Amino acid sequence: METRTKIALVTGGSRGLGRNSAIKIAQKGLDVIITYRSNKEEADRVIEEIQALGRKAIAYQLDTKDIKSFDLFIKTVGDHLEENTASRNIDYLVNNAGTALYSPISEVTEEQLDDMVDIHFKGVFFLTQKFLPFVNDGGGIINISSGLARFALPGSSVYGSIKAGVEMLTKYIAKELGSRKIKANVVAPGAIETDFGGGRTRDDKNINDMVSSITALGRAGLPDDIGGVVAFLCTEDARWITGQRIEASGGMFL
Ligand SMILES: NC(=O)c1ccc[n+]([C@@H]2O[C@H](COP(=O)([O-])OP(=O)(O)OC[C@H]3O[C@@H](n4cnc5c(N)ncnc54)[C@H](OP(=O)(O)O)[C@@H]3O)[C@@H](O)[C@H]2O)c1
Repeated sequence: METRTKIALVTGGSRGLGRNSAIKIAQKGLDVIITYRSNKEEADRVIEEIQALGRKAIAYQLDTKDIKSFDLFIKTVGDHLEENTASRNIDYLVNNAGTALYSPISEVTEEQLDDMVDIHFKGVFFLTQKFLPFVNDGGGIINISSGLARFALPGSSVYGSIKAGVEMLTKYIAKELGSRKIKANVVAPGAIETDFGGGRTRDDKNINDMVSSITALGRAGLPDDIGGVVAFLCTEDARWITGQRIEASGGMFL
């Protein structure tokens, strides 16, 4: 019997770590669905790159803050999959989309905090909840956290604390979904050179030097350092890993 090609959905797959993860997942032989918030052109480029690898790929617009839109989004994805694969299901959900907030505790506003909770926790929680009926048994959830959930740097109180919440949530998903052989794991990148936070790790020499100086491997991270870790978790080789946090930071603050 022919086995169905596995499918991964990566939120925020148009740029940075999501883009790199989507491409590395496709290189492992999976078909990929990505989402983008506003940057359709970048998303289309990722789709072309994945299709050039011989894999199927499609991009959808999704604001992961907009929880009310999730039901329609999942229905749209399901309709597309049913038409093309005879099943509405995906195999892996990668909750990657996100934005930065650097602000000292004294200056954080309620709006900023709500925004970060919505994107980095509530959105992750409800997208996962609503997708669970459509994740095949034996599949997986991969949540992207941050080194900042383990160590504290001034200005990242909100972001780091919410990512820490996502790490605990991941253990609960692993526990509650274990009976369906669904794995849930966290990948926690260190500071990586993407557009994140205005591209400051990449473009601000002082920040880049600071990161390099406290990193065992002696440099800031690159998207290529992360995507392969996420892709590995979308393979059978990772089938016995669940409820775990894998930090890919080159050894920041060891
Ligand atoms: N870069 C780092 O140093 C670093 C370190 C640790 C953890 N992380 C985490 O890694 C993840 C990806 O970060 P990145 O560095 O790849 O950032 P990035 O280069 O800025 O890319 C962010 C991606 O997320 C999408 N996105 C942003 N807000 C969204 C929203 N509300 N709804 C839906 N999509 C949204 C963007 O879509 P558009 O292109 O359409 O805007 C884009 O595809 C985030 O969860 C971040 O917290 C990053």
